[in-house]
Amino acid sequence: MNILVTGGAGYIGSHAARRLEAAGHEVWIYDNLSQGHRSACRQGRLIEGDLHDGELLESTLKDKQIDAVMHFAAFALVGESVTDPAKYYQNNVVAALSLLEAMRRADVRRFVFSSTTATYGAPETIPITEQEVQRPINPYGFTKLVVEQALADYAAAYGFGYAALRYFNAAGAATTGDIGEDHDPESHLIPIVLQVALGQRDQITIFGDDYPTPDGTCIRDYIHVDDLGDAHVLALQKIELGAGLQMNLGTGRGTSVREIIDACRQVTGHKIPETIGRRRPGDPPELVADSSLAQKTLDWAPRYTEIQPIVETAWRWHHLHPRGYE
Ligand code: UFG
Repeated sequence: MNILVTGGAGYIGSHAARRLEAAGHEVWIYDNLSQGHRSACRQGRLIEGDLHDGELLESTLKDKQIDAVMHFAAFALVGESVTDPAKYYQNNVVAALSLLEAMRRADVRRFVFSSTTATYGAPETIPITEQEVQRPINPYGFTKLVVEQALADYAAAYGFGYAALRYFNAAGAATTGDIGEDHDPESHLIPIVLQVALGQRDQITIFGDDYPTPDGTCIRDYIHVDDLGDAHVLALQKIELGAGLQMNLGTGRGTSVREIIDACRQVTGHKIPETIGRRRPGDPPELVADSSLAQKTLDWAPRYTEIQPIVETAWRWHHLHPRGYE
């Protein structure tokens, strides 16, 4: 298929683009480089454009004879979405609708959407299944839920077919070592801990050690970014026009903040000093996926089931590229 990957110059999008190419698809990346990196894209495959530019989107979809769109382009910082919701509604909702409308004009109806565990809010039952009520607790989660709803409506009314993939915590990097995680500012746990190992930060601050978890720190389900990419490739094949799939993507295994720091110590051989800070507002104590639906529907299983090999791939990237793509 000819696939348009929006946000394909970003962290998850660039990895998914690689997996799509490896599976034999023709990939075009559509990215305004506001967060993404030119060198994360394969040469000659980047279309520099904005999602608000409906005309460029429509002509791209037609000129490249696109069969399906994978939509990664979005802002994803929970805290920022609380202090600047307009930025999130504009980019994650208005721009996504501009994309859907361009698709309608170009008669492209297959869509894979980067959704998130944040659409569940603070669920009471762990592991989280797709049966859990989606009740976001921050604007970021709401913006993603709005698009999921729009997709359901577009499927029913206009014959779109889609997969909404709800990621847990994306982590790691391609084993090739040439693409990886590079956010500015960085807020994610693993890259920050590895920056301490690189000497770029003095210590890691643990955001709260008084949670109701075995070691008092928050538990997350870290899934390797290439396992996410593979699930996207498989989801593409399962899309049926007029219908939607909603699936969690995680490993089913929870890892605490302390366990992450310990894994990083083992992988890097650095001491990695730590300090205890206050809780970060909006952090649920535990988020772990039940991904059995995705495993069954897509005949998919994460290849990385332990945290240490995931951290090893992240460390390879950060070690080889201490300044990221700069
Ligand atoms: N953490 C620290 N210290 C840090 C950074 C993070 O203790 O310096 C902790 C956080 O409090 C959290 C855990 O490490 O408990 C993981 O934090 P991340 O920021 O790496 O990831 P989140 O779980 O907050 O965020 C992820 C995705 C978001 C998504 C969210 C949904 O990155 O895009 O899950 O809950 F919205």
